[in-house]
Amino acid sequence: MVMRGNTSPHARSRTPCVTGEAVGPGAVPITLEVNGILRALPVCPGATLAEVLRDQLQLTGTKIACDRGACSACTVRLNGTPVCSCMVLAIEVNGAKIDTIEGVAGETLHPVQAAFLEHDAIQCGFCTPGLIMSCVALLESTPHPSEEEVKAALGGHLCRCGTYPHVIAAVLHAAQTSKRRP
Ligand code: FES
Ligand code: FES
Repeated sequence: MVMRGNTSPHARSRTPCVTGEAVGPGAVPITLEVNGILRALPVCPGATLAEVLRDQLQLTGTKIACDRGACSACTVRLNGTPVCSCMVLAIEVNGAKIDTIEGVAGETLHPVQAAFLEHDAIQCGFCTPGLIMSCVALLESTPHPSEEEVKAALGGHLCRCGTYPHVIAAVLHAAQTSKRRP
């Protein structure tokens, strides 16, 4: 079991590789399927999934705000389940399927993304990628959620701009849009 060596983001950045019990101190090769593409890369044993996505794969749509699991800005999907990627060591998810905000849209915006725009659910936008990842996961598991189910799915997401009513309206709208799809 590899423990995250230092919970301070600043201290961690001054200590590039944290020695674990079984791996390290040097970089460890891992493989991730990120947005459908197989990526093989060496990672520092102490690097979080959020750091690897942003710093090594340049997928900067995933945001790091609190870096301690308190705001959900860094939400990605790990084997389909929304997780705070700042709380996951990359080496712990070797071989996993990761979905980030960069992979949500196809040739057109995902209905959730379109509904966010239509309902003005974005202010500064910092929390938006994480919110969208959780909302997309919700509609996949619960295509026709109640308002209470949407609120529950948003639990843990901190929006400093207070867009919650707009986000809830957007998700309910996206569910209706999806209903009309064949
Ligand atoms: S940055 Fe990960 S939960 Fe806040
Ligand atoms: S839109 Fe600014 S933090 Fe949510």
